[in-house]
Amino acid sequence: MNFTGKTVIITGAGRGIGAALAREFSARGAIVALADLDKDEVRAVALEIGGSAYVCDVTIEQDIQRLVARVQAELGEIDIFFSNAGICRGEPDHAASATNATWQACWEVHVMAHVYATRAVLPAMIARGDGYLIQMASAAGVLNQIGDTAYSTTKHAAVGLAEALAITHGNQGIKVSVACPQYVATEMLGYDDPAQANGLPGVLSPQDLSQRVADAMEAETFMILPHPEVAEYMEFKASHYEKWLGSMRNLRAKIITKLGNTKLTEMHKWI
Ligand SMILES: NC(=O)c1ccc[n+]([C@@H]2O[C@H](COP(=O)([O-])OP(=O)(O)OC[C@H]3O[C@@H](n4cnc5c(N)ncnc54)[C@H](O)[C@@H]3O)[C@@H](O)[C@H]2O)c1
Repeated sequence: MNFTGKTVIITGAGRGIGAALAREFSARGAIVALADLDKDEVRAVALEIGGSAYVCDVTIEQDIQRLVARVQAELGEIDIFFSNAGICRGEPDHAASATNATWQACWEVHVMAHVYATRAVLPAMIARGDGYLIQMASAAGVLNQIGDTAYSTTKHAAVGLAEALAITHGNQGIKVSVACPQYVATEMLGYDDPAQANGLPGVLSPQDLSQRVADAMEAETFMILPHPEVAEYMEFKASHYEKWLGSMRNLRAKIITKLGNTKLTEMHKWI
């Protein structure tokens, strides 16, 4: 797959990873449609790269349908839908302690948004025999994020959805990828400036992450692992599940000793 001349929609493109992906795809020659809840942020990034900005709440199916219809009318057929928007709210106490509202929000942003995007673009892609669906999951979707059960569970569901799409539509010319990065220096992890993470092992800048994702998309890789060590952790988990669970329990205990229960999602600053 070559980005030149391809029309790509990216959700959650107002900042962080989505904005970095928009910059990277634009630099590789794509026509970029940036969508986000935040009107001002998404307009600023679009202005910077010469893309088009759209306000869209990915949890509302009509918003996604309107987004797709507008992009088709203004920029042409959609070649790539990058469903990137995500949220991370943590949990106050035990593994089921996040509120029902948090669980529902994670389900809607991390799973249903991808379903809505697929419904909106897939029929035209199948008719053309060409198209690319990509979803931003997380290493939490193939391993687990200590301290955020709703995030981990719904990111696992996103990986399952991407697998089903690849199995069902891979022979119809539809390319499918799922990206499962570990830590990236964005506001989601409390970074206003990616430079604050310089030197922290295992934490990528959004720019480096985007280059790795774009390279993997050009190679049409299904499982995109921008942190190569995640592949090793997945292999260990698959072949030694009990040991993997034990090592995650030990890691959690060490982090709680160091940071306390309330700061589990800041573990990337400590590991
Ligand atoms: N930062 C990390 O360490 C990391 C690691 C693995 C995966 N991810 C995933 O990468 C994606 C991007 O994360 P990020 O770090 O850039 O986060 P971020 O919080 O910096 O940016 C998320 C963007 O998504 C937008 N958004 C949130 N809900 C939305 C909605 N309902 N509709 C439209 N837009 C919405 C926000 O306005 C924001 O612009 C997420 O799916 C996240 O789960 C992040």
